[in-house]
Amino acid sequence: MDLHLAGQNVFITGAGGGIGRETALSFSREGAAVAAADARLAAAEATAAAVQEAGGRAIAIAVDVTSETGVQHAVESLGPIDVAVNCAGVYRIGEIADVDPAAWQQVLDINLTGTYLVCRAILPAMLERGSGAIVNLASISGRTKSTLAAPSYVASKAGVIGLTMALASQCAGRGVRINAVAPGPIDTDMIRSLPDGLPDRLASTIPMGRLGTAREIAHAIVFLASGAASFITGETLNVNGGAFMV
Ligand SMILES: NC(=O)c1ccc[n+]([C@@H]2O[C@H](COP(=O)([O-])OP(=O)(O)OC[C@H]3O[C@@H](n4cnc5c(N)ncnc54)[C@H](O)[C@@H]3O)[C@@H](O)[C@H]2O)c1
Repeated sequence: MDLHLAGQNVFITGAGGGIGRETALSFSREGAAVAAADARLAAAEATAAAVQEAGGRAIAIAVDVTSETGVQHAVESLGPIDVAVNCAGVYRIGEIADVDPAAWQQVLDINLTGTYLVCRAILPAMLERGSGAIVNLASISGRTKSTLAAPSYVASKAGVIGLTMALASQCAGRGVRINAVAPGPIDTDMIRSLPDGLPDRLASTIPMGRLGTAREIAHAIVFLASGAASFITGETLNVNGGAFMV
Protein backbone atom coordinates (compact mmCIF):
# COMPACT_ATOMS: atom_id res chain seq x y z
CA MET A 1 0.00 0.00 0.00
CA ASP A 2 1.51 3.36 -1.04
CA LEU A 3 0.70 6.11 1.40
CA HIS A 4 1.97 8.80 -1.04
CA LEU A 5 3.48 10.82 1.81
CA ALA A 6 7.13 10.92 0.72
CA GLY A 7 8.18 14.51 0.04
CA GLN A 8 4.96 15.96 1.47
CA ASN A 9 5.05 18.97 3.81
CA VAL A 10 3.14 18.35 7.03
CA PHE A 11 2.12 21.09 9.49
CA ILE A 12 1.28 19.85 13.00
CA THR A 13 -0.07 22.04 15.82
CA GLY A 14 0.34 20.85 19.40
CA ALA A 15 3.41 19.07 18.04
CA GLY A 16 5.18 19.36 21.39
CA GLY A 17 2.55 17.17 23.04
CA GLY A 18 2.32 13.40 23.27
CA ILE A 19 0.15 12.71 20.21
CA GLY A 20 1.68 15.54 18.17
CA ARG A 21 5.22 14.26 18.69
CA GLU A 22 4.39 10.67 17.72
CA THR A 23 2.48 12.02 14.71
CA ALA A 24 5.54 14.01 13.61
CA LEU A 25 7.73 10.92 13.93
CA SER A 26 5.23 8.74 12.06
CA PHE A 27 4.92 11.16 9.12
CA SER A 28 8.69 11.48 9.01
CA ARG A 29 9.09 7.69 8.79
CA GLU A 30 6.96 7.87 5.61
CA GLY A 31 9.37 10.42 4.09
CA ALA A 32 7.40 13.61 4.86
CA ALA A 33 8.95 16.86 6.12
CA VAL A 34 7.41 18.22 9.32
CA ALA A 35 6.74 21.75 10.61
CA ALA A 36 6.25 21.18 14.35
CA ALA A 37 4.18 24.02 15.84
CA ASP A 38 3.30 24.53 19.48
CA ALA A 39 2.58 27.37 21.88
CA ARG A 40 5.53 25.98 23.87
CA LEU A 41 8.46 26.55 21.51
CA ALA A 42 10.85 24.38 23.55
CA ALA A 43 8.44 21.44 23.24
CA ALA A 44 8.14 21.96 19.47
CA GLU A 45 11.94 22.10 19.25
CA ALA A 46 12.22 18.83 21.16
CA THR A 47 9.88 17.21 18.64
CA ALA A 48 11.86 18.59 15.68
CA ALA A 49 15.07 17.32 17.30
CA ALA A 50 13.54 13.85 17.80
CA VAL A 51 12.58 13.73 14.11
CA GLN A 52 16.04 14.86 13.04
CA GLU A 53 17.75 12.33 15.34
CA ALA A 54 15.66 9.63 13.64
CA GLY A 55 17.00 10.83 10.26
CA GLY A 56 14.02 12.92 9.21
CA ARG A 57 13.43 16.55 8.27
CA ALA A 58 11.69 18.92 10.69
CA ILE A 59 11.57 22.53 11.81
CA ALA A 60 10.00 23.98 14.96
CA ILE A 61 7.82 27.09 15.16
CA ALA A 62 6.02 28.86 17.99
CA VAL A 63 2.31 29.18 17.24
CA ASP A 64 -0.58 30.00 19.54
CA VAL A 65 -3.58 28.62 17.66
CA THR A 66 -5.92 31.13 19.30
CA SER A 67 -4.15 34.01 17.55
CA GLU A 68 -5.57 34.66 14.08
CA THR A 69 -2.54 36.74 13.03
CA GLY A 70 -0.10 34.32 14.66
CA VAL A 71 -1.59 31.37 12.76
CA GLN A 72 -1.69 33.34 9.50
CA HIS A 73 1.95 34.45 9.80
CA ALA A 74 3.10 30.93 10.65
CA VAL A 75 1.32 29.45 7.65
CA GLU A 76 2.63 32.18 5.32
CA SER A 77 6.20 31.61 6.58
CA LEU A 78 6.10 27.98 5.46
CA GLY A 79 6.10 26.73 1.88
CA PRO A 80 3.13 24.87 0.43
CA ILE A 81 1.48 22.67 3.06
CA ASP A 82 0.18 19.30 1.86
CA VAL A 83 -1.13 18.00 5.20
CA ALA A 84 -2.25 19.82 8.35
CA VAL A 85 -2.91 18.10 11.67
CA ASN A 86 -4.72 19.99 14.43
CA CYS A 87 -3.38 18.42 17.64
CA ALA A 88 -3.24 21.54 19.86
CA GLY A 89 -5.69 21.12 22.68
CA VAL A 90 -6.39 21.30 26.39
CA TYR A 91 -8.43 18.93 28.57
CA ARG A 92 -10.64 19.90 31.49
CA ILE A 93 -12.67 17.86 33.95
CA GLY A 94 -15.60 18.94 36.09
CA GLU A 95 -19.26 19.86 36.18
CA ILE A 96 -20.88 23.01 34.81
CA ALA A 97 -20.55 24.77 38.18
CA ASP A 98 -16.76 24.38 37.82
CA VAL A 99 -16.77 26.04 34.40
CA ASP A 100 -17.03 29.82 34.66
CA PRO A 101 -17.42 31.79 31.41
CA ALA A 102 -13.68 32.52 31.17
CA ALA A 103 -12.79 28.85 31.59
CA TRP A 104 -15.45 27.90 29.02
CA GLN A 105 -14.12 30.43 26.53
CA GLN A 106 -10.50 29.32 26.94
CA VAL A 107 -11.26 25.71 26.07
CA LEU A 108 -13.48 26.66 23.12
CA ASP A 109 -10.83 29.13 21.89
CA ILE A 110 -8.02 26.55 21.86
CA ASN A 111 -9.80 23.35 20.87
CA LEU A 112 -12.45 24.61 18.44
CA THR A 113 -11.59 28.15 17.31
CA GLY A 114 -7.91 27.19 17.04
CA THR A 115 -8.82 24.33 14.70
CA TYR A 116 -11.03 26.66 12.66
CA LEU A 117 -8.28 29.32 12.41
CA VAL A 118 -5.70 26.81 11.17
CA CYS A 119 -8.13 25.37 8.61
CA ARG A 120 -9.08 28.87 7.47
CA ALA A 121 -5.43 29.84 7.01
CA ILE A 122 -4.43 26.67 5.20
CA LEU A 123 -7.41 25.79 3.00
CA PRO A 124 -7.24 28.56 0.35
CA ALA A 125 -3.84 27.40 -0.96
CA MET A 126 -4.87 23.72 -0.81
CA LEU A 127 -8.04 24.49 -2.78
CA GLU A 128 -6.10 26.52 -5.31
CA ARG A 129 -3.71 23.58 -5.84
CA GLY A 130 -6.62 21.13 -5.80
CA SER A 131 -4.96 18.82 -3.29
CA GLY A 132 -4.40 18.47 0.44
CA ALA A 133 -5.59 16.75 3.59
CA ILE A 134 -6.43 17.95 7.08
CA VAL A 135 -6.85 15.77 10.17
CA ASN A 136 -8.47 17.24 13.29
CA LEU A 137 -8.28 15.84 16.81
CA ALA A 138 -11.78 15.24 18.18
CA SER A 139 -12.38 12.92 21.15
CA ILE A 140 -14.57 10.10 22.36
CA SER A 141 -15.94 12.82 24.69
CA GLY A 142 -17.42 14.62 21.67
CA ARG A 143 -19.31 11.51 20.54
CA THR A 144 -20.88 9.91 23.60
CA LYS A 145 -21.62 10.51 27.28
CA SER A 146 -18.72 11.52 29.43
CA THR A 147 -18.64 11.31 33.21
CA LEU A 148 -15.29 13.03 33.71
CA ALA A 149 -14.79 15.63 30.96
CA ALA A 150 -16.00 19.19 31.55
CA PRO A 151 -18.92 20.42 29.41
CA SER A 152 -16.52 22.88 27.75
CA TYR A 153 -14.26 20.07 26.56
CA VAL A 154 -17.17 17.92 25.37
CA ALA A 155 -18.73 20.85 23.49
CA SER A 156 -15.40 21.81 21.91
CA LYS A 157 -14.79 18.28 20.60
CA ALA A 158 -18.37 17.86 19.34
CA GLY A 159 -17.76 21.17 17.58
CA VAL A 160 -14.59 19.82 15.97
CA ILE A 161 -16.61 16.90 14.56
CA GLY A 162 -19.20 19.33 13.12
CA LEU A 163 -16.51 21.61 11.71
CA THR A 164 -14.82 18.60 10.09
CA MET A 165 -18.06 17.58 8.34
CA ALA A 166 -18.85 21.15 7.24
CA LEU A 167 -15.41 21.70 5.70
CA ALA A 168 -15.27 18.22 4.19
CA SER A 169 -18.57 18.66 2.38
CA GLN A 170 -17.54 22.08 1.06
CA CYS A 171 -14.17 20.79 -0.20
CA ALA A 172 -15.07 17.26 -1.33
CA GLY A 173 -15.26 18.05 -5.03
CA ARG A 174 -12.14 20.19 -4.96
CA GLY A 175 -9.37 17.69 -4.14
CA VAL A 176 -9.07 18.40 -0.41
CA ARG A 177 -10.10 15.90 2.27
CA ILE A 178 -10.83 16.78 5.92
CA ASN A 179 -11.22 14.06 8.56
CA ALA A 180 -10.98 13.68 12.33
CA VAL A 181 -9.76 11.11 14.82
CA ALA A 182 -11.71 10.57 18.05
CA PRO A 183 -9.33 8.98 20.57
CA GLY A 184 -10.39 7.38 23.80
CA PRO A 185 -8.08 7.99 26.80
CA ILE A 186 -4.46 7.98 25.60
CA ASP A 187 -1.31 7.72 27.71
CA THR A 188 0.07 11.27 27.32
CA ASP A 189 0.66 14.18 29.72
CA MET A 190 -2.98 15.19 29.19
CA ILE A 191 -4.12 12.08 31.06
CA ARG A 192 -1.03 11.55 33.25
CA SER A 193 -1.51 15.02 34.76
CA LEU A 194 -4.98 14.14 36.09
CA PRO A 195 -5.39 13.67 39.88
CA ASP A 196 -4.17 10.35 41.32
CA GLY A 197 -6.37 7.40 40.49
CA LEU A 198 -8.16 8.98 37.54
CA PRO A 199 -5.87 7.58 34.81
CA ASP A 200 -6.43 4.07 36.21
CA ARG A 201 -10.17 4.71 36.46
CA LEU A 202 -10.22 5.77 32.81
CA ALA A 203 -8.21 2.71 31.75
CA SER A 204 -10.67 0.45 33.57
CA THR A 205 -13.52 1.76 31.37
CA ILE A 206 -11.80 0.51 28.22
CA PRO A 207 -12.71 -3.02 27.04
CA MET A 208 -9.11 -3.62 25.92
CA GLY A 209 -8.11 -2.95 29.54
CA ARG A 210 -5.52 -0.23 28.96
CA LEU A 211 -4.98 3.34 27.82
CA GLY A 212 -4.14 3.80 24.15
CA THR A 213 -0.69 4.92 23.07
CA ALA A 214 0.13 8.13 21.24
CA ARG A 215 1.58 6.04 18.44
CA GLU A 216 -1.75 4.24 17.96
CA ILE A 217 -3.40 7.63 17.40
CA ALA A 218 -0.55 8.78 15.15
CA HIS A 219 -1.08 5.75 12.90
CA ALA A 220 -4.77 6.63 12.45
CA ILE A 221 -3.86 10.25 11.67
CA VAL A 222 -1.24 9.23 9.10
CA PHE A 223 -3.68 6.83 7.47
CA LEU A 224 -6.41 9.48 7.13
CA ALA A 225 -3.93 11.99 5.68
CA SER A 226 -2.47 9.49 3.23
CA GLY A 227 -3.34 8.32 -0.25
CA ALA A 228 -4.60 5.10 1.35
CA ALA A 229 -7.65 7.10 2.52
CA SER A 230 -8.26 8.79 -0.84
CA PHE A 231 -12.06 8.16 -0.78
CA ILE A 232 -12.54 9.10 2.89
CA THR A 233 -13.65 12.61 3.86
CA GLY A 234 -15.83 14.04 6.63
CA GLU A 235 -15.18 10.93 8.71
CA THR A 236 -14.45 10.85 12.43
CA LEU A 237 -12.52 7.67 13.15
CA ASN A 238 -12.95 6.10 16.61
CA VAL A 239 -9.67 4.84 18.11
CA ASN A 240 -10.62 3.80 21.62
CA GLY A 241 -9.96 0.15 22.47
CA GLY A 242 -13.66 -0.70 22.13
CA ALA A 243 -14.93 1.95 24.58
CA PHE A 244 -17.46 3.39 22.12
CA MET A 245 -18.88 1.84 18.98
CA VAL A 246 -21.43 3.07 16.44
N1 LIG B 1 -4.65 12.14 25.50
C1 LIG B 1 -5.91 11.79 25.38
O1 LIG B 1 -6.42 10.97 26.14
C2 LIG B 1 -6.78 12.40 24.31
C3 LIG B 1 -8.04 11.83 24.08
C4 LIG B 1 -8.88 12.39 23.12
C5 LIG B 1 -8.45 13.50 22.40
N2 LIG B 1 -7.21 14.02 22.64
C6 LIG B 1 -6.84 15.21 21.87
O2 LIG B 1 -5.62 14.99 21.18
C7 LIG B 1 -4.91 16.23 21.05
C8 LIG B 1 -3.49 16.04 21.54
O3 LIG B 1 -3.54 15.65 22.91
P1 LIG B 1 -2.27 15.07 23.72
O4 LIG B 1 -2.74 13.90 24.47
O5 LIG B 1 -1.11 14.98 22.83
O6 LIG B 1 -2.08 16.25 24.77
P2 LIG B 1 -0.77 17.01 25.27
O7 LIG B 1 -1.21 17.81 26.45
O8 LIG B 1 0.35 16.05 25.42
O9 LIG B 1 -0.43 17.97 24.03
C9 LIG B 1 -1.24 19.09 23.71
C10 LIG B 1 -0.32 20.13 23.10
O10 LIG B 1 -1.10 21.25 22.69
C11 LIG B 1 -0.34 22.43 22.95
N3 LIG B 1 -1.20 23.59 23.05
C12 LIG B 1 -2.11 23.90 24.02
N4 LIG B 1 -2.66 25.09 23.78
C13 LIG B 1 -2.12 25.54 22.62
C14 LIG B 1 -2.29 26.72 21.85
N5 LIG B 1 -3.13 27.71 22.25
N6 LIG B 1 -1.60 26.85 20.71
C15 LIG B 1 -0.72 25.90 20.30
N7 LIG B 1 -0.48 24.76 21.01
C16 LIG B 1 -1.19 24.60 22.15
C17 LIG B 1 0.36 22.13 24.28
O11 LIG B 1 1.48 22.98 24.49
C18 LIG B 1 0.73 20.66 24.11
O12 LIG B 1 2.03 20.51 23.59
C19 LIG B 1 -5.72 17.27 21.84
O13 LIG B 1 -6.55 18.00 20.97
C20 LIG B 1 -6.58 16.41 22.75
O14 LIG B 1 -7.77 17.06 23.15
C21 LIG B 1 -6.37 13.50 23.56
